[in-house]
Amino acid sequence: MFFSQIILLWYSGNKRPLPWRNTTDPYKIWLSEIILQQTRVAQGLPYYHKFITAFPTLQDLANAGETDILKHWQGLGYYTRARNMHKTAIAITRDMGGRFPETYEGLLQLKGVGDYTASAIASCSFNLPEPVVDGNVYRVLARYFGIQLPINSGEGKKYFKQLARAVMDTGRIADYNQGIMEFGAIQCVPQKPDCGQCPLNTGCIALKDDMVAQLPVKLNKVKVKKRYFNYLVLLDPDYKTRLTKREGKGIWQNLFEFPLMETEKELDLPEFVGRLARFLGSHEISDVQLANTDKIIHKLTHQHLDTRFWIIRTEDKLRDGLSIQQIRNYPVPVLLAEFIKTL
Ligand code: ADE
Repeated sequence: MFFSQIILLWYSGNKRPLPWRNTTDPYKIWLSEIILQQTRVAQGLPYYHKFITAFPTLQDLANAGETDILKHWQGLGYYTRARNMHKTAIAITRDMGGRFPETYEGLLQLKGVGDYTASAIASCSFNLPEPVVDGNVYRVLARYFGIQLPINSGEGKKYFKQLARAVMDTGRIADYNQGIMEFGAIQCVPQKPDCGQCPLNTGCIALKDDMVAQLPVKLNKVKVKKRYFNYLVLLDPDYKTRLTKREGKGIWQNLFEFPLMETEKELDLPEFVGRLARFLGSHEISDVQLANTDKIIHKLTHQHLDTRFWIIRTEDKLRDGLSIQQIRNYPVPVLLAEFIKTL
């Protein structure tokens, strides 16, 4: 049997019954693949259900407010994905009569849709012969064919895409693409795959050459930057606090947070209080306390956020003050949501 036939046979016996696998609705395929880009199925599935319930169609998403969308995305991270989906839903509704483009090239023009998502929608919704190459697929191909090119180099990406195209099953492209991703997610897993049970084990070059643990090769590019965040949790006499919307580019754009003082190092209480007056202006402050005595280091792909929450009691009533109940309705980074739970 060919590689693709083994994948398809394995898939028919092992696939999980996921909601985007019994539909060709491009909105649902799109949403699932955007969620699964940075998130495993088990973690992403509840979000998929929540999101589809809140915004059942592309038009519902287009008509929704960004804050509402971000609230449903809260916890998934990489919020640009949600903001781009909103913009794209608006563009399709406004400029394309509410219909997704039905070609790979057309799909690629959409904001937030790269090769991977365009291929997934083209194949799963429109039955077009486009191979999907995600992290799972890189792993399966690198191991089975014994490819040592780094998957995050230009040369590697091009090579894997061509290889994926050469071995795909064009006649059953939707199942084949879902199948190879599922195979990577369940059988050919990153750590300690059970090669004894694998239907591809007789032809697998990595297994023959004892290279399974070394493949795929990935160049180490990310340099992690350490940042120091001091969140100002103001509390006025009515026990109200303040949230601000995070402007500017970056991962948390348009999410809400407590007023943030970013510093070049970790501050102790006297240092923090020394800088507070400059930061807060004319507020009368009666007490300042560090809320988290244990260190909180929030790890993102490129940054580690060393975070301190400071409870600051003020004598003045806050303009735009929000109760603790109210702030629970705002979309905030998970780092803050965890802290708000403790209030
Ligand atoms: N990872 C990304 N997309 C996936 C899919 N459709 N099925 C399983 N794992 C995936």
